[in-house]
Amino acid sequence: MSDELRFHDDTITPNGPWTTFGATTAGRGPLEYFHSAMEYVDGNDAKGRQAIDLGCGGGADSRALLARGWKVLAVDAEPGSERLLTAGLSPERRARLEITIGAFHEVKLVPADLVYAQFSLPFAGEHFEQSVRAALGAVTEGGAFVGQLFGTHDDWVAEEGAVVVDHLWVEKNLRDFAHVDIDERQYDAPYGTANRTRHFHFFHIRARR
Ligand SMILES: C[S@@+](CC[C@H](N)C(=O)[O-])C[C@H]1O[C@@H](n2cnc3c(N)ncnc32)[C@H](O)[C@@H]1O
Repeated sequence: MSDELRFHDDTITPNGPWTTFGATTAGRGPLEYFHSAMEYVDGNDAKGRQAIDLGCGGGADSRALLARGWKVLAVDAEPGSERLLTAGLSPERRARLEITIGAFHEVKLVPADLVYAQFSLPFAGEHFEQSVRAALGAVTEGGAFVGQLFGTHDDWVAEEGAVVVDHLWVEKNLRDFAHVDIDERQYDAPYGTANRTRHFHFFHIRARR
């Protein structure tokens, strides 16, 4: 993950804790996790199916979804996401994009064929469980959730207070889903401007209702 997710400056700005992250990742292409999601939902030619990009950040994944024909509800607490997301979008793609700025546990989600939450839900803090419930609750019959949740050893847990889960927690909370694929990954990799090695530990989850 780290090479692709790497951003240029870890500084926390007065705009919000994720402002720099969004700005510096806005121009990237979709990552491996996104392609894994598209494969799971046969999503490369979506023909107007509805997706939610939860914690859209700089908007790279929302733009990739729009490019594949999805209607997208992009959600993020960072006000700057809206500008990053809409920059240079064609009117046709803009018409398929709805943006909601707000916290995961407070925003109104639409029923969705795909809820995509790339490294975002663990940052919901005390509202984590409520946020996950809302995310899963938005998945329609036959639809899917794809996202990552952190394991105990991820450096973002100590550094950002990200919420931790384990395999059992994931199984239990996705028990209503017809198919669940949990891929636990753990490795060291370089990250950030200083190319500092950090430890990654997360569950890449794909679940179909
Ligand atoms: C690590 S970034 C990931 C962004 C994007 N999904 C990506 O992979 O590039 C986490 C994102 O979740 C957003 N976020 C964190 N906590 C949030 C919350 N409680 N409600 C809404 N957005 C939140 C942040 O603003 C940030 O954009």
